[in-house]
Amino acid sequence: MLILGIETSCDETSAAVVKDGREIVSNVILSQDTLHRHFGGVVPEIACRAHLESIIGIINNALSDAKLSLAEIDAIAVVNTPGLIGALLIGVTAAKTLCMALDVPLIAINHLHAHIYANNLEYGDIQYPAISLVVSGGHTILFLSESETKHIPLGWTIDDAAGEAFDKVSKILGLGYPGGPVIDKRARGGNQHAVPFPRSYLEKDSLDFSFSGLKTAVLYHYRGQDFKTHRKPPSDHEVADIAASFQEAVVDVLVDKTVLASRIYNARAVQTGGGVAANSRLRQRLKDKSKDLSIPVYCPPAKLCTDNAAMVAGLAYKKFLEGDISGLDVEAIP
Ligand code: KG4
Ligand code: ZN
Repeated sequence: MLILGIETSCDETSAAVVKDGREIVSNVILSQDTLHRHFGGVVPEIACRAHLESIIGIINNALSDAKLSLAEIDAIAVVNTPGLIGALLIGVTAAKTLCMALDVPLIAINHLHAHIYANNLEYGDIQYPAISLVVSGGHTILFLSESETKHIPLGWTIDDAAGEAFDKVSKILGLGYPGGPVIDKRARGGNQHAVPFPRSYLEKDSLDFSFSGLKTAVLYHYRGQDFKTHRKPPSDHEVADIAASFQEAVVDVLVDKTVLASRIYNARAVQTGGGVAANSRLRQRLKDKSKDLSIPVYCPPAKLCTDNAAMVAGLAYKKFLEGDISGLDVEAIP
C-alpha cells in the first residue's frame, strides 16, 4: 500500500511516499528556517504563506522522487493537529482536495504520534508498553505507548518546550535560529560543569517539565543580575561553556524523567522523537541508560527526528489497518 503523507504543522513543508508503513520511497522536506531566522522564531503568518506557495511543488517532488503518479497512491495522510492553525490548514486542505479528486481514503494524523512513529520507520516493531519522549520546538511530552497508534500522555511541560528553551537560549547567546543544532555543536567544545544552572524537577515523582526558569537563569548569567550590567561580550570559550551547561541541565531532566516513567510503568522499551531528539548529548545519555534499565532505547536518525512527512505516511498505514479513516469534514485543530 502506497500512502502519500503531508506535513505542514509548523515551519517545514514536507511530502513523502511510504510503502506498507515501513519503506520510505520518498521524503521531501522544505525548511523555512531562512524565512524565520531574522525574527528569531517562527512567524505564523510567514509560515502559512510559505506553505501555500510550496505545497503543490513539494507534493510533485515527492511523487517524482518516488517515480509514481498520483493515480498510484492508495491513501493520503495529513497532520491535522497540533500545530499552527494557518499552517495546518494548508496541508489539510491540500489532502482533502487530493482525496476528493482521487477518491482515496484520508487519514488524519496527530503530529506528536507521528514523531513517535519515526522509530518504527527505522527499527520496525517496538516492544510495548514503551515510554515515548517527544521533545520538539512546541512540545515536551512523555507518553505511555501501548501500540504504534495508542499513546497516553503522562506528563508535559507547564511552560516552555525543550526546543523552545534551546531556541531562546540561542537567541540570548547571539547564536541565531534555530537554536538546537547550534547549541549542540557549540556545547561540544564546552564544559558542562562550568555553570551550575538549575534543574527543575517539580514535585516528587512528577512527570511534568518546566524550562522557563532555566532560560531565565541563562539570561541572568549572561546579562548580569541587575540587567543593567553591560558586560563585555563573552569569549567563544565562555559561550561554549554556557551552551554545554545549559544543554546538560535540559538533558538531565529529560533523561531522569524518562527513566522514572519507564520504571513506574515497567516499560519494555524507551523511544524518542521530535527535533530535540536529534541532540547528540541527549541521545548519548539516553543510550547509556539502556543497560541500567535492561531495555532497548531507540532514537530515530536525526533526519527523522525533525519534522518530515515520512513519519506521517508511516503511521497512517497502521491507522488504516485499524480502520481509523477520517471523513472529509475532519478539522485542523491547533
Ligand atoms: O520537531 P521539530 O522539527 O518541530 C516541531 O514540531 O516543533 O523540532 C524543532 C525543534 C527546534 O526547537 C530546534 O531548535 C530543535 O528542535 N532541535 C534541536 C536539535 N535539532 C533541532 N534541539 C537540540 N539539539 C539539536 N541537535
Ligand atoms: Zn515536530
